[in-house]
Amino acid sequence: MKILALESSCDEMAAGVVQDGRKILSSVISSQVEEHKKYGGVVPEIASRRHCEDVLPVTEQALSEAGLTLSEIDAVAVTAGPGLIGALLVGVNFAKGLALAADKPLIPVHHIRGHIAANYLAHPELEPPFLCLVVSGGHSHIIDVEDYTRFRVIGRTRDDAAGEAYDKAARALGFPYPGGRYIDAAAAQGDPTAVRLPHPSVDGSRYDLSFSGLKTAVLNLCHQYRQKGEELPVNDISACFQQTVCEMLTDRLFAAAGELRRDTVVLAGGVAANSLLRRTTEALAAQKGLSCCLPPVPLCGDNAVMIGSQAYYEAKAGFFAKTDLNAVASLPVGEPFSGVFRR
Ligand code: KG4
Ligand code: ZN
Repeated sequence: MKILALESSCDEMAAGVVQDGRKILSSVISSQVEEHKKYGGVVPEIASRRHCEDVLPVTEQALSEAGLTLSEIDAVAVTAGPGLIGALLVGVNFAKGLALAADKPLIPVHHIRGHIAANYLAHPELEPPFLCLVVSGGHSHIIDVEDYTRFRVIGRTRDDAAGEAYDKAARALGFPYPGGRYIDAAAAQGDPTAVRLPHPSVDGSRYDLSFSGLKTAVLNLCHQYRQKGEELPVNDISACFQQTVCEMLTDRLFAAAGELRRDTVVLAGGVAANSLLRRTTEALAAQKGLSCCLPPVPLCGDNAVMIGSQAYYEAKAGFFAKTDLNAVASLPVGEPFSGVFRR
């Protein structure tokens, strides 16, 4: 089954073709990062307008790189949420038009399910059940993937997402947006014990996360150095921040894996590109005798092939949408989109 997939939930317009959920036939990503950089974050209105310009050429390129015409595609898939509503609407409406015009089934895909599925493209042996840590600019979840289309949230952030915390700390340290990878690079040159940062936990919850206290601590630290007129130890603060975030994430992931008796842990989302998080997860998994899957770095950030992969499993489970499909800004990962029918 060859699925043409579209992703436009944030500042990337992407299209790709995936065969049987596991094989990438083409993957095209048009990123707007340079455009949003000057505002220090994504401007939703600009993202939607750029998606309108990009959606057709990006889709045409994805088909042409796969060596296929629209009539040779078996289904059209699209991220229908969660994300920026104006940005999502561009992909959703374009996908509905394509599906209708070409008389193809339409498969809506949840963005987080897509991030998890990025792993199926790189690890042919990976099958649910497994425990997945999804960490991106918009989400931080520990999810028990019971089956390809059955998900249970075990823990989540109560405030900022991990990527959001990275980006805000990076801004305070003087890095451009999105700052996660700059902190990652600076941390490699720093001493994680040179400064002290708090390890916030959430009262009454073993697996939930909170990053706002940590972010505020970094901001305060930066102010203190600047007020004293001292040079900011950017590398040391980066290293300490990164170490703290990794400890917070892996502590909860492995505690949950132990309690749920899952023998495989998986990372997903933009922050899964983080070098320390990858190293620590691999090392802890080996130490505890668990299998570990990491998405290849190019598949950690937003792309369309992860949507095409998950769409295959949604289709196998019989989940399709009609042209009344709407985009939604938020939706729990375990729930279906409104109007989805089973066939
Ligand atoms: O998954 P993604 O592309 O978009 C969302 O769905 O949110 O994730 C983007 C996030 C940004 O916050 C970015 O700073 C972060 O992933 N990120 C990183 C690294 N590379 C990207 N964070 C930490 N270390 C990295 N190497
Ligand atoms: Zn994402």
